[in-house]
Amino acid sequence: LVRLLHGRERELRDCHGIQFHVTGIASRRLGWIADPAGLSVSLLDSAAVSARPPAASRDLTNVRDWLRVARADVLFEATSLNVENGQPARDHIRAALLGGAHAITANKGPVVHAYRELRDLAKNAGRQFLFESAVMDGVPIFSLFRDNLPVLHLRGFRGILNSTTNIILSEMEAGSSFAASLAKAQALGVAETDASYDIDGWDAAVKVAALATVLMGIPTTPDRISRQGIRELSADAMRAAKQSGRRYKLVCRAERVGDAVEARVQPEILPSTDPMAQLDGSSSIICFETDIFPNLVITENNPGLDATAYGMLADFVRAAKSDPRSDHTRLPNRPRQA
Ligand SMILES: NC(=O)c1ccc[n+]([C@@H]2O[C@H](COP(=O)([O-])OP(=O)(O)OC[C@H]3O[C@@H](n4cnc5c(N)ncnc54)[C@H](OP(=O)(O)O)[C@@H]3O)[C@@H](O)[C@H]2O)c1
Repeated sequence: LVRLLHGRERELRDCHGIQFHVTGIASRRLGWIADPAGLSVSLLDSAAVSARPPAASRDLTNVRDWLRVARADVLFEATSLNVENGQPARDHIRAALLGGAHAITANKGPVVHAYRELRDLAKNAGRQFLFESAVMDGVPIFSLFRDNLPVLHLRGFRGILNSTTNIILSEMEAGSSFAASLAKAQALGVAETDASYDIDGWDAAVKVAALATVLMGIPTTPDRISRQGIRELSADAMRAAKQSGRRYKLVCRAERVGDAVEARVQPEILPSTDPMAQLDGSSSIICFETDIFPNLVITENNPGLDATAYGMLADFVRAAKSDPRSDHTRLPNRPRQA
């Protein structure tokens, strides 16, 4: 994300009137590091930042003080997924919104566990809570419905939303072992920190819950989604299916039933004519069933990690442009602090 921000720095300034400094970075290992004057990219890329943190970081022990010292206008939150309660991302985002910063996350946890609370908090604070990268790595899904498809009725959707299992299934069909296939997904950086979240269908279930919660307006937590992962699938079964012109895929489905949503994640054997069967590698697909567009399909072919970063950057532009403190029609006097 930092590399992408700096790569697009001139376009952000010249085309959108947005200037920024990175004034803070934090992780479990690094601790809370802040410098309101700005941290250099080379420092962020190296271990030096934790070995010799800026003086302003001394004594920082929590997210509230860190945001205050960094004088943050925008928080980018990208901690690991916590399926049970969305923490610590929920607390990080809440602290940002209460402290007057926009909150942008790639983390699905706070979306399924605290969407309404954080949305309302953002609205009351006049800030943005944005999460485009949480599902399909930054492909504009949430903003598509929010900004471009007003009063459209979403009846349901189906899709393949977990890259790690899609890579594993493709590799195993081609003869690789389960362990080697998982190692490939991990080397590409797409697997969750705890890969059992992918393999057991939790990541896909959280994405389904996030889409149902936000796009269908039905608060849904992952434990309410019928879920079966890919552990029980054998390589022999997958190869046999492929020889008969069919493929196993971990398929997500959700359907509105009255005021509720019925949803499931499970391996399905698909005919080769199904667009979902043609998906390989880290690709994702989603088919929305709406009252106007019966089958609105979005496919993302083999995205890299920069796609997730791009979703956060696009949210950053949305947040900056919505901010009454900035006048993006001319160069702002004070750079945004990210
Ligand atoms: N990678 C993708 O393709 C992708 C795509 C879309 C969405 N996402 C989402 O983006 C988020 C990050 O993914 P990732 O692949 O970058 O994960 P990752 O490689 O595991 O990185 C997670 C980061 O969060 C930090 N962290 C974890 N728990 C923390 C805590 N309690 N306090 C402070 N820092 C903490 C870690 O710090 P330490 O290293 O210091 O422990 C690490 O820097 C996840 O929620 C994931 O679901 C990822």
